[in-house]
Amino acid sequence: MERSDVIILGAGAAGLFCAGQAGQRGLKVALLEKAEAPGKKILISGGGRCNFTNLGAGPGNYLSANPHFAKSALARYTPADFIALIERHGIAWHEKTLGQLFCDSSAKQIVAMLLEECPSELVTLTCEVDVASVARGEDGTFTVTAADGRAWAAPALVIATGGPSIPKMGASDFAYKLARQFGLKVVEPRPALVPLTLGGEDALFRELSGVAAPVLARAGKAEFAEAALFTHKGLSGPAILQVSSFWRHGDPVGITFLPEAATDWLLEAKRDRPRSHLRTLLRERLPARLADALADRLGLERELGNIADKDLRAAQGQLADWRFAPNGTEGYAKAEVTAGGIATAELSSRTMEAAKVSGLYAIGEAVDVTGWLGGYNFQWAWASAHAAAEALAEARWT
Ligand code: FDA
Repeated sequence: MERSDVIILGAGAAGLFCAGQAGQRGLKVALLEKAEAPGKKILISGGGRCNFTNLGAGPGNYLSANPHFAKSALARYTPADFIALIERHGIAWHEKTLGQLFCDSSAKQIVAMLLEECPSELVTLTCEVDVASVARGEDGTFTVTAADGRAWAAPALVIATGGPSIPKMGASDFAYKLARQFGLKVVEPRPALVPLTLGGEDALFRELSGVAAPVLARAGKAEFAEAALFTHKGLSGPAILQVSSFWRHGDPVGITFLPEAATDWLLEAKRDRPRSHLRTLLRERLPARLADALADRLGLERELGNIADKDLRAAQGQLADWRFAPNGTEGYAKAEVTAGGIATAELSSRTMEAAKVSGLYAIGEAVDVTGWLGGYNFQWAWASAHAAAEALAEARWT
Protein backbone atom coordinates (compact mmCIF):
# COMPACT_ATOMS: atom_id res chain seq x y z
CA MET A 1 0.00 0.00 0.00
CA GLU A 2 1.43 3.37 -1.03
CA ARG A 3 0.48 6.29 1.21
CA SER A 4 0.35 9.93 0.18
CA ASP A 5 -1.43 13.17 1.09
CA VAL A 6 -3.67 13.01 -1.94
CA ILE A 7 -4.60 10.60 -4.70
CA ILE A 8 -5.52 12.20 -8.01
CA LEU A 9 -7.38 9.96 -10.44
CA GLY A 10 -6.72 10.95 -14.06
CA ALA A 11 -3.58 12.55 -15.49
CA GLY A 12 -5.30 14.74 -18.05
CA ALA A 13 -5.26 18.54 -18.10
CA ALA A 14 -6.89 19.01 -14.69
CA GLY A 15 -5.21 16.09 -12.91
CA LEU A 16 -1.71 16.94 -14.11
CA PHE A 17 -2.05 20.60 -13.20
CA CYS A 18 -3.55 19.79 -9.81
CA ALA A 19 -0.71 17.36 -9.09
CA GLY A 20 1.90 20.03 -9.89
CA GLN A 21 0.15 22.71 -7.85
CA ALA A 22 -0.35 20.38 -4.88
CA GLY A 23 3.23 19.10 -5.07
CA GLN A 24 4.57 22.65 -5.15
CA ARG A 25 2.63 23.29 -1.96
CA GLY A 26 4.45 20.43 -0.28
CA LEU A 27 1.88 17.66 -0.65
CA LYS A 28 2.83 14.10 -1.50
CA VAL A 29 0.71 13.16 -4.52
CA ALA A 30 -0.15 9.83 -6.13
CA LEU A 31 -1.32 10.61 -9.67
CA LEU A 32 -2.99 7.55 -11.19
CA GLU A 33 -3.73 7.29 -14.90
CA LYS A 34 -5.57 4.56 -16.78
CA ALA A 35 -3.88 5.14 -20.16
CA GLU A 36 -0.27 4.30 -20.97
CA ALA A 37 0.66 8.01 -21.02
CA PRO A 38 -0.67 11.24 -19.50
CA GLY A 39 -2.43 14.12 -21.24
CA LYS A 40 -3.66 12.36 -24.37
CA LYS A 41 -6.48 14.83 -25.05
CA ILE A 42 -4.07 17.71 -24.65
CA LEU A 43 -1.89 16.19 -27.37
CA ILE A 44 -4.72 16.06 -29.93
CA SER A 45 -6.26 19.38 -28.87
CA GLY A 46 -6.33 22.42 -31.09
CA GLY A 47 -5.23 20.37 -34.09
CA GLY A 48 -2.05 19.36 -32.22
CA ARG A 49 -1.23 22.91 -31.10
CA CYS A 50 -3.49 23.03 -28.00
CA ASN A 51 -5.75 26.03 -27.65
CA PHE A 52 -4.67 26.27 -24.02
CA THR A 53 -6.75 29.26 -22.92
CA ASN A 54 -8.86 32.15 -24.09
CA LEU A 55 -7.98 35.75 -23.27
CA GLY A 56 -11.62 36.54 -22.58
CA ALA A 57 -12.43 33.50 -20.42
CA GLY A 58 -14.99 34.42 -17.78
CA PRO A 59 -17.99 32.78 -16.11
CA GLY A 60 -20.25 33.84 -19.02
CA ASN A 61 -18.42 31.42 -21.33
CA TYR A 62 -19.55 28.32 -19.46
CA LEU A 63 -22.71 26.22 -19.26
CA SER A 64 -23.69 24.79 -15.90
CA ALA A 65 -26.84 24.22 -13.86
CA ASN A 66 -25.35 26.93 -11.62
CA PRO A 67 -23.91 29.69 -13.83
CA HIS A 68 -22.21 31.26 -10.77
CA PHE A 69 -20.29 28.15 -9.77
CA ALA A 70 -17.20 28.73 -11.94
CA LYS A 71 -16.73 32.37 -10.84
CA SER A 72 -14.52 31.83 -7.81
CA ALA A 73 -12.04 29.40 -9.38
CA LEU A 74 -11.84 31.35 -12.65
CA ALA A 75 -11.16 34.59 -10.77
CA ARG A 76 -8.36 33.03 -8.74
CA TYR A 77 -6.54 31.44 -11.69
CA THR A 78 -6.83 33.52 -14.84
CA PRO A 79 -5.67 33.20 -18.46
CA ALA A 80 -2.89 35.67 -17.56
CA ASP A 81 -1.67 33.27 -14.86
CA PHE A 82 -1.46 30.42 -17.36
CA ILE A 83 0.26 32.63 -19.96
CA ALA A 84 2.85 33.61 -17.34
CA LEU A 85 3.43 29.91 -16.65
CA ILE A 86 3.99 28.93 -20.26
CA GLU A 87 6.26 31.94 -20.75
CA ARG A 88 8.36 30.83 -17.79
CA HIS A 89 8.76 27.54 -19.67
CA GLY A 90 9.76 29.36 -22.85
CA ILE A 91 6.78 28.08 -24.84
CA ALA A 92 6.03 30.35 -27.79
CA TRP A 93 2.35 31.08 -28.44
CA HIS A 94 0.07 33.16 -30.61
CA GLU A 95 -3.52 34.36 -30.70
CA LYS A 96 -5.35 32.74 -33.59
CA THR A 97 -8.73 34.43 -33.44
CA LEU A 98 -11.33 35.54 -30.89
CA GLY A 99 -8.85 35.47 -27.99
CA GLN A 100 -7.91 31.82 -28.63
CA LEU A 101 -4.28 31.14 -27.68
CA PHE A 102 -2.31 28.29 -29.27
CA CYS A 103 1.24 26.96 -29.03
CA ASP A 104 3.35 28.04 -32.00
CA SER A 105 4.90 24.60 -32.11
CA SER A 106 3.17 21.66 -30.44
CA ALA A 107 0.76 20.57 -27.72
CA LYS A 108 3.52 18.23 -26.58
CA GLN A 109 5.13 21.28 -24.97
CA ILE A 110 2.09 21.74 -22.72
CA VAL A 111 2.19 18.13 -21.52
CA ALA A 112 5.96 18.38 -20.96
CA MET A 113 5.46 21.61 -19.01
CA LEU A 114 2.74 20.10 -16.82
CA LEU A 115 5.02 17.17 -16.01
CA GLU A 116 7.96 19.49 -15.26
CA GLU A 117 5.71 21.43 -12.90
CA CYS A 118 5.33 18.29 -10.77
CA PRO A 119 8.15 18.14 -8.17
CA SER A 120 9.56 14.65 -8.73
CA GLU A 121 10.27 14.04 -5.05
CA LEU A 122 6.61 14.58 -4.18
CA VAL A 123 4.49 13.64 -7.19
CA THR A 124 4.46 10.06 -8.44
CA LEU A 125 2.70 9.42 -11.74
CA THR A 126 1.64 5.82 -12.33
CA CYS A 127 0.15 4.98 -15.72
CA GLU A 128 -1.81 1.90 -16.80
CA VAL A 129 -3.68 1.73 -13.52
CA ASP A 130 -6.95 -0.13 -13.92
CA VAL A 131 -8.92 1.04 -10.89
CA ALA A 132 -10.99 -1.83 -9.51
CA SER A 133 -12.36 -0.15 -6.40
CA VAL A 134 -12.33 3.04 -4.38
CA ALA A 135 -13.26 2.82 -0.73
CA ARG A 136 -13.39 5.31 2.15
CA GLY A 137 -12.60 4.04 5.62
CA GLU A 138 -14.27 5.23 8.81
CA ASP A 139 -11.29 7.50 9.50
CA GLY A 140 -11.89 9.16 6.11
CA THR A 141 -8.95 7.47 4.37
CA PHE A 142 -9.51 6.74 0.69
CA THR A 143 -8.10 3.51 -0.67
CA VAL A 144 -7.79 2.95 -4.40
CA THR A 145 -7.18 -0.64 -5.43
CA ALA A 146 -6.14 -1.62 -8.95
CA ALA A 147 -7.20 -4.80 -10.73
CA ASP A 148 -3.65 -6.14 -10.36
CA GLY A 149 -3.79 -5.72 -6.58
CA ARG A 150 -1.68 -2.55 -6.20
CA ALA A 151 -3.21 -0.09 -3.73
CA TRP A 152 -2.87 3.56 -2.76
CA ALA A 153 -4.19 5.28 0.38
CA ALA A 154 -4.64 8.98 1.24
CA PRO A 155 -6.89 11.27 3.28
CA ALA A 156 -7.94 13.09 0.07
CA LEU A 157 -9.05 11.94 -3.37
CA VAL A 158 -9.47 14.11 -6.46
CA ILE A 159 -11.68 12.91 -9.31
CA ALA A 160 -10.05 14.24 -12.51
CA THR A 161 -11.05 11.53 -14.97
CA GLY A 162 -12.87 13.85 -17.40
CA GLY A 163 -16.02 13.01 -19.35
CA PRO A 164 -17.01 10.27 -21.79
CA SER A 165 -16.35 12.19 -25.03
CA ILE A 166 -14.07 10.37 -27.51
CA PRO A 167 -14.43 6.85 -26.04
CA LYS A 168 -11.92 5.47 -28.52
CA MET A 169 -9.27 7.35 -26.52
CA GLY A 170 -10.38 5.54 -23.38
CA ALA A 171 -12.76 8.23 -22.11
CA SER A 172 -15.56 6.86 -19.96
CA ASP A 173 -18.19 7.74 -17.39
CA PHE A 174 -15.93 6.60 -14.55
CA ALA A 175 -16.15 9.99 -12.80
CA TYR A 176 -19.94 9.83 -12.63
CA LYS A 177 -19.95 6.27 -11.30
CA LEU A 178 -17.48 7.20 -8.60
CA ALA A 179 -19.42 10.33 -7.69
CA ARG A 180 -22.65 8.32 -7.42
CA GLN A 181 -20.87 5.73 -5.28
CA PHE A 182 -20.25 8.54 -2.77
CA GLY A 183 -23.83 9.79 -3.00
CA LEU A 184 -23.17 12.79 -5.25
CA LYS A 185 -25.73 13.72 -7.88
CA VAL A 186 -24.80 13.89 -11.55
CA VAL A 187 -26.42 16.28 -14.02
CA GLU A 188 -27.45 14.19 -17.05
CA PRO A 189 -24.37 14.16 -19.31
CA ARG A 190 -24.69 14.85 -23.04
CA PRO A 191 -22.31 15.34 -25.95
CA ALA A 192 -21.37 19.00 -26.48
CA LEU A 193 -19.24 20.90 -29.01
CA VAL A 194 -20.43 18.23 -31.40
CA PRO A 195 -21.56 18.16 -35.06
CA LEU A 196 -25.32 17.99 -35.64
CA THR A 197 -26.96 15.50 -37.98
CA LEU A 198 -29.64 16.35 -40.53
CA GLY A 199 -32.41 14.13 -41.84
CA GLY A 200 -35.83 14.57 -43.42
CA GLU A 201 -36.05 17.50 -45.83
CA ASP A 202 -32.78 18.90 -44.50
CA ALA A 203 -30.94 15.74 -45.61
CA LEU A 204 -30.55 17.35 -49.05
CA PHE A 205 -28.08 19.80 -47.50
CA ARG A 206 -25.75 16.88 -46.85
CA GLU A 207 -24.95 17.06 -50.58
CA LEU A 208 -23.04 20.23 -49.74
CA SER A 209 -20.46 18.24 -47.75
CA GLY A 210 -17.23 20.26 -47.50
CA VAL A 211 -18.82 23.68 -48.11
CA ALA A 212 -18.22 26.31 -45.41
CA ALA A 213 -19.49 29.85 -44.93
CA PRO A 214 -19.44 32.51 -42.21
CA VAL A 215 -22.85 32.57 -40.52
CA LEU A 216 -24.68 33.51 -37.37
CA ALA A 217 -25.93 30.29 -35.75
CA ARG A 218 -28.58 30.13 -33.05
CA ALA A 219 -29.96 27.50 -30.69
CA GLY A 220 -32.02 28.35 -27.65
CA LYS A 221 -30.80 31.74 -26.42
CA ALA A 222 -27.26 31.26 -27.74
CA GLU A 223 -25.95 32.90 -30.88
CA PHE A 224 -22.45 32.60 -32.37
CA ALA A 225 -20.88 34.36 -35.36
CA GLU A 226 -18.36 31.94 -36.83
CA ALA A 227 -18.06 29.55 -39.76
CA ALA A 228 -20.52 26.71 -40.41
CA LEU A 229 -19.50 23.64 -42.38
CA PHE A 230 -21.78 21.21 -44.20
CA THR A 231 -20.78 17.56 -43.74
CA HIS A 232 -21.97 14.28 -45.20
CA LYS A 233 -23.98 13.82 -41.99
CA GLY A 234 -25.21 17.36 -41.41
CA LEU A 235 -23.70 20.49 -39.91
CA SER A 236 -20.39 21.23 -38.23
CA GLY A 237 -17.80 24.03 -38.07
CA PRO A 238 -17.16 26.30 -35.09
CA ALA A 239 -20.53 28.10 -35.18
CA ILE A 240 -22.41 24.79 -35.10
CA LEU A 241 -20.16 23.21 -32.45
CA GLN A 242 -20.79 26.25 -30.27
CA VAL A 243 -24.59 26.11 -30.56
CA SER A 244 -24.63 22.31 -30.21
CA SER A 245 -23.87 22.71 -26.50
CA PHE A 246 -27.12 24.67 -26.12
CA TRP A 247 -29.17 22.57 -28.53
CA ARG A 248 -31.77 20.13 -27.20
CA HIS A 249 -33.49 17.39 -29.21
CA GLY A 250 -36.47 18.83 -31.06
CA ASP A 251 -35.11 22.40 -31.09
CA PRO A 252 -34.49 24.11 -34.43
CA VAL A 253 -31.13 25.65 -35.27
CA GLY A 254 -31.41 29.04 -36.94
CA ILE A 255 -28.74 30.12 -39.41
CA THR A 256 -28.25 33.60 -40.79
CA PHE A 257 -26.55 33.26 -44.15
CA LEU A 258 -24.87 36.50 -45.25
CA PRO A 259 -24.77 37.97 -41.73
CA GLU A 260 -23.11 41.12 -43.08
CA ALA A 261 -25.87 41.85 -45.63
CA ALA A 262 -28.15 44.86 -45.08
CA THR A 263 -31.71 43.98 -44.04
CA ASP A 264 -33.18 45.01 -47.39
CA TRP A 265 -30.29 43.91 -49.57
CA LEU A 266 -32.50 42.11 -52.10
CA LEU A 267 -34.83 45.10 -52.46
CA GLU A 268 -31.78 47.31 -52.99
CA ALA A 269 -30.47 44.85 -55.59
CA LYS A 270 -33.86 44.88 -57.33
CA ARG A 271 -33.57 48.66 -57.60
CA ASP A 272 -29.90 48.71 -58.65
CA ARG A 273 -29.72 45.56 -60.83
CA PRO A 274 -33.30 44.63 -61.86
CA ARG A 275 -32.12 42.26 -64.62
CA SER A 276 -30.06 40.08 -62.31
CA HIS A 277 -31.16 36.83 -60.68
CA LEU A 278 -31.23 35.83 -57.03
CA ARG A 279 -28.96 32.88 -57.83
CA THR A 280 -26.34 35.23 -59.30
CA LEU A 281 -26.45 37.51 -56.27
CA LEU A 282 -26.07 34.56 -53.91
CA ARG A 283 -23.19 33.16 -55.98
CA GLU A 284 -21.41 36.52 -55.67
CA ARG A 285 -21.51 36.23 -51.88
CA LEU A 286 -21.46 32.52 -51.04
CA PRO A 287 -19.71 29.36 -52.26
CA ALA A 288 -21.39 28.36 -55.55
CA ARG A 289 -22.79 25.02 -54.30
CA LEU A 290 -24.36 26.64 -51.26
CA ALA A 291 -25.71 29.54 -53.32
CA ASP A 292 -27.33 27.06 -55.74
CA ALA A 293 -28.84 24.96 -52.95
CA LEU A 294 -30.37 28.03 -51.32
CA ALA A 295 -31.56 29.45 -54.66
CA ASP A 296 -33.17 26.09 -55.54
CA ARG A 297 -35.10 26.08 -52.29
CA LEU A 298 -36.11 29.74 -52.49
CA GLY A 299 -37.47 29.40 -56.04
CA LEU A 300 -37.91 32.90 -57.54
CA GLU A 301 -36.10 31.97 -60.76
CA ARG A 302 -36.98 35.26 -62.46
CA GLU A 303 -35.23 38.57 -62.93
CA LEU A 304 -35.38 40.53 -59.68
CA GLY A 305 -37.32 43.30 -61.42
CA ASN A 306 -40.15 40.82 -62.02
CA ILE A 307 -40.37 39.62 -58.41
CA ALA A 308 -42.79 41.27 -56.00
CA ASP A 309 -41.21 43.13 -53.06
CA LYS A 310 -43.07 40.94 -50.61
CA ASP A 311 -41.51 37.81 -52.13
CA LEU A 312 -38.04 39.35 -51.93
CA ARG A 313 -38.69 40.34 -48.33
CA ALA A 314 -39.73 36.76 -47.57
CA ALA A 315 -36.51 35.45 -49.20
CA GLN A 316 -34.42 37.95 -47.21
CA GLY A 317 -36.17 36.80 -44.05
CA GLN A 318 -35.56 33.15 -44.85
CA LEU A 319 -31.86 33.73 -45.57
CA ALA A 320 -31.57 35.66 -42.32
CA ASP A 321 -33.16 32.86 -40.28
CA TRP A 322 -32.90 29.57 -42.16
CA ARG A 323 -34.34 26.88 -39.92
CA PHE A 324 -32.73 23.48 -39.73
CA ALA A 325 -34.27 20.67 -37.69
CA PRO A 326 -31.30 18.50 -36.62
CA ASN A 327 -32.34 14.95 -35.80
CA GLY A 328 -29.42 14.37 -33.45
CA THR A 329 -25.72 14.84 -32.86
CA GLU A 330 -22.73 12.75 -33.90
CA GLY A 331 -22.54 11.69 -30.24
CA TYR A 332 -19.66 11.14 -27.85
CA ALA A 333 -17.54 9.70 -30.68
CA LYS A 334 -17.19 13.23 -32.12
CA ALA A 335 -17.96 15.47 -29.12
CA GLU A 336 -15.09 17.68 -27.97
CA VAL A 337 -16.54 17.79 -24.48
CA THR A 338 -19.34 16.42 -22.34
CA ALA A 339 -21.88 18.84 -20.91
CA GLY A 340 -23.43 17.97 -17.55
CA GLY A 341 -21.48 15.92 -15.03
CA ILE A 342 -20.96 15.92 -11.27
CA ALA A 343 -23.54 18.38 -9.92
CA THR A 344 -22.05 21.68 -8.82
CA ALA A 345 -24.63 21.74 -6.01
CA GLU A 346 -22.61 18.94 -4.40
CA LEU A 347 -19.30 20.87 -4.49
CA SER A 348 -17.83 23.97 -2.89
CA SER A 349 -17.15 26.53 -5.63
CA ARG A 350 -14.11 27.73 -3.67
CA THR A 351 -12.45 24.37 -3.05
CA MET A 352 -14.13 21.81 -5.38
CA GLU A 353 -14.61 19.60 -2.34
CA ALA A 354 -17.81 17.60 -1.93
CA ALA A 355 -19.96 19.00 0.86
CA LYS A 356 -21.13 15.54 1.90
CA VAL A 357 -17.80 13.73 1.73
CA SER A 358 -14.87 15.56 3.24
CA GLY A 359 -11.62 14.91 1.41
CA LEU A 360 -13.34 14.12 -1.91
CA TYR A 361 -12.77 16.65 -4.70
CA ALA A 362 -13.83 16.83 -8.36
CA ILE A 363 -12.23 19.02 -11.04
CA GLY A 364 -12.12 19.59 -14.80
CA GLU A 365 -14.58 18.20 -17.29
CA ALA A 366 -15.97 15.65 -14.81
CA VAL A 367 -17.84 18.56 -13.20
CA ASP A 368 -21.01 20.13 -14.62
CA VAL A 369 -19.12 23.12 -16.03
CA THR A 370 -18.71 23.16 -19.81
CA GLY A 371 -16.87 25.82 -21.74
CA TRP A 372 -17.48 27.24 -25.17
CA LEU A 373 -15.19 26.23 -27.99
CA GLY A 374 -11.95 28.22 -27.98
CA GLY A 375 -9.69 27.36 -25.02
CA TYR A 376 -12.33 27.79 -22.34
CA ASN A 377 -12.40 24.12 -21.35
CA PHE A 378 -8.69 24.02 -20.63
CA GLN A 379 -8.97 27.25 -18.66
CA TRP A 380 -11.61 25.56 -16.50
CA ALA A 381 -9.34 22.53 -16.08
CA TRP A 382 -6.46 24.78 -14.89
CA ALA A 383 -8.65 26.98 -12.66
CA SER A 384 -10.59 24.17 -10.97
CA ALA A 385 -7.35 22.20 -10.46
CA HIS A 386 -5.69 25.24 -8.91
CA ALA A 387 -8.65 25.83 -6.57
CA ALA A 388 -8.55 22.21 -5.39
CA ALA A 389 -4.76 22.24 -4.90
CA GLU A 390 -4.95 25.40 -2.76
CA ALA A 391 -7.69 23.85 -0.66
CA LEU A 392 -5.81 20.56 -0.30
CA ALA A 393 -2.75 22.42 0.96
CA GLU A 394 -4.85 24.42 3.43
CA ALA A 395 -6.53 21.26 4.69
CA ARG A 396 -3.19 19.49 5.05
CA TRP A 397 -1.39 22.21 7.00
CA THR A 398 -4.16 23.51 9.24
P1 FDA B 1 -9.08 14.81 -19.60
O1 FDA B 1 -9.97 14.03 -20.49
O2 FDA B 1 -8.06 15.71 -20.18
O3 FDA B 1 -8.29 13.83 -18.61
C1 FDA B 1 -8.90 12.76 -17.95
C2 FDA B 1 -7.83 11.73 -17.70
O4 FDA B 1 -8.37 10.73 -16.86
C3 FDA B 1 -7.39 11.04 -18.99
O5 FDA B 1 -5.98 11.02 -19.05
C4 FDA B 1 -7.99 9.64 -18.88
O6 FDA B 1 -7.22 8.65 -19.52
C5 FDA B 1 -7.97 9.47 -17.36
N1 FDA B 1 -8.93 8.47 -16.87
C6 FDA B 1 -10.18 8.23 -17.31
N2 FDA B 1 -10.74 7.24 -16.60
C7 FDA B 1 -9.82 6.86 -15.68
C8 FDA B 1 -9.79 5.89 -14.63
N3 FDA B 1 -10.83 5.08 -14.42
N4 FDA B 1 -8.69 5.78 -13.86
C9 FDA B 1 -7.60 6.57 -14.09
N5 FDA B 1 -7.56 7.51 -15.06
C10 FDA B 1 -8.67 7.66 -15.83
N6 FDA B 1 -10.32 22.27 -24.93
C11 FDA B 1 -9.72 23.47 -25.03
O7 FDA B 1 -9.86 24.29 -24.11
N7 FDA B 1 -8.96 23.78 -26.12
C12 FDA B 1 -8.77 22.91 -27.15
O8 FDA B 1 -8.01 23.17 -28.09
C13 FDA B 1 -9.43 21.65 -27.09
N8 FDA B 1 -9.36 20.77 -28.13
C14 FDA B 1 -9.94 19.53 -28.01
C15 FDA B 1 -9.85 18.65 -29.09
C16 FDA B 1 -10.43 17.39 -28.98
C17 FDA B 1 -10.36 16.45 -30.15
C18 FDA B 1 -11.09 17.02 -27.79
C19 FDA B 1 -11.69 15.66 -27.64
C20 FDA B 1 -11.20 17.92 -26.74
C21 FDA B 1 -10.64 19.20 -26.85
N9 FDA B 1 -10.76 20.12 -25.81
C22 FDA B 1 -10.17 21.35 -25.93
C23 FDA B 1 -11.43 19.78 -24.55
C24 FDA B 1 -10.36 19.41 -23.51
O9 FDA B 1 -9.51 18.42 -24.07
C25 FDA B 1 -11.00 18.88 -22.24
O10 FDA B 1 -12.01 19.75 -21.81
C26 FDA B 1 -9.95 18.73 -21.16
O11 FDA B 1 -8.98 17.81 -21.58
C27 FDA B 1 -10.57 18.28 -19.85
O12 FDA B 1 -9.56 18.05 -18.92
P2 FDA B 1 -9.75 16.94 -17.81
O13 FDA B 1 -8.43 16.81 -17.15
O14 FDA B 1 -10.93 17.22 -16.99
O15 FDA B 1 -10.05 15.61 -18.62
